[in-house]
Amino acid sequence: MEQFRLQGQVVLITGGGSGLGRGIGQAVAELGAAVVAADVRTDQAEEAAATLRAQGFRAAAVEMDVTRPESIAAGLQTAAEAFGHVDVLVNNAGITRMQGIGDITPRDWEQVFSINVEGMFLCCQQFFSCLRREGRTGRIVNIASNAAKVTFPGQAHYNASKAAVVNMTQSLAKELAPFGINVNAVCPGAVDTEMLRYCMVKTIEESPADARPTLDDLRASWGPPQLGRLIQPVEVGRVVAFLASDAAGIIRGQSISVDAGSTPY
Ligand SMILES: NC(=O)c1ccc[n+]([C@@H]2O[C@H](COP(=O)([O-])OP(=O)(O)OC[C@H]3O[C@@H](n4cnc5c(N)ncnc54)[C@H](O)[C@@H]3O)[C@@H](O)[C@H]2O)c1
Repeated sequence: MEQFRLQGQVVLITGGGSGLGRGIGQAVAELGAAVVAADVRTDQAEEAAATLRAQGFRAAAVEMDVTRPESIAAGLQTAAEAFGHVDVLVNNAGITRMQGIGDITPRDWEQVFSINVEGMFLCCQQFFSCLRREGRTGRIVNIASNAAKVTFPGQAHYNASKAAVVNMTQSLAKELAPFGINVNAVCPGAVDTEMLRYCMVKTIEESPADARPTLDDLRASWGPPQLGRLIQPVEVGRVVAFLASDAAGIIRGQSISVDAGSTPY
């Protein structure tokens, strides 16, 4: 059972200040890890770290914009100064937009890909060079989405970006395995976060006035049918914690659905 623990491990979570990032922080902290909440929103990252510290866990906040290599390098450096090293990178920062094909501008497409795909790659690249410099091994867990597998209308850029995450997970898992770096991903279903709330509000606004659902209607119907409710961030966090642990050392390059079976299998 020791292999499931994260005692002595340092886990850096991009987008760690909100939603899923916070749930992941809670789950890994409960298994003994020190948490670095890395976010472009430093106020949110500080709040996430303070919430963990108030429970007696080790946690710090760092400023990080995943689209800027110098910001990623500075964030990794600050994390190493706080806790000595970083063992696990969780690539969670991401955005979505609800836009039909006619409304997506080149700028919208670029923004989604710049954070969800390029930003993730840049974080992996910087983390890899840190580990090589220090002669350490590590683990990477990428947050994809079930949108990579089933796709949602009105989010062509988001769906494609998450499919790219699945492919990048496979590419990097092969390339980094010889260096002792294990790479996997999770594909969550509808998780109760600000991002999902944004999607719900857009859906309500765009529904015909005589058939407009309420937020409560959508909260009741968007979760996995088998679950009958939305997924909570910490439930995804527990799967991420497992993939970050030694117990998952035998799993490599996989993108695991975390959606109570709602993605066809
Ligand atoms: N909520 C869902 O239903 C759901 C489902 C599947 C996958 N996901 C994925 O989970 C991840 C987290 O989403 P969430 O639902 O918690 O959303 P969220 O909007 O609550 O959190 C996203 C976080 O990312 C941060 N962020 C945005 N741009 C950044 C940047 N350039 N650099 C650093 N941080 C940045 C934000 O400040 C925020 O803290 C995303 O990758 C999302 O695509 C979410």
